[in-house]
Amino acid sequence: MERAEAVALCRAKAEKETTVRHLISVEGVMRALARRFGEDEELWGLTGLFHDLDQDQTHDDPERHARLAAEWLREAGVDERVVNGVLAHAHDEFRTDLMSRAVRHADAVAGLLVAAALVRPEKTAGMKVSSVKKKLKEKAFAPGVDREEILGVESSIGLPLDEFLAVGIQGLQSVASEIGM
Ligand SMILES: [Fe+2]
Repeated sequence: MERAEAVALCRAKAEKETTVRHLISVEGVMRALARRFGEDEELWGLTGLFHDLDQDQTHDDPERHARLAAEWLREAGVDERVVNGVLAHAHDEFRTDLMSRAVRHADAVAGLLVAAALVRPEKTAGMKVSSVKKKLKEKAFAPGVDREEILGVESSIGLPLDEFLAVGIQGLQSVASEIGM
């Protein structure tokens, strides 16, 4: 699926602009991770972009979350590897390969990075790993962000925390103009 068509699908399904912003931010992080691992940037990007496609419909039904998105994506003919990655961010049994493990870490770090950017006048420009690490340690900052999913990145996908944060920052910066970051 072409990116413009994929973004249009996100805009059609998401009811909140913050959801669209979240989807695009995770897309940016997933693309940067794919480049770092020498993996398929398009597949990883689509997985990030679609991971919470049904967020606004299923936010109070965790068991249904991602499964409704998977139905929509299959109807739209999206690659089954992307569908699996979308399911994996919410349901452990689909975490079968590097991409499907990476999406949950990308989801968490994108949440932290967007929150960090929102309290900086420069947003993502010039953002440093050291300042993001401070925010990571401040439990009261962006309390909805799952710290374990960020701190556990090395044991899960083999990327040291500092490098993961650096790649995440680059990924968010790559989509920053699109989401006002
Ligand atoms: Fe998410």
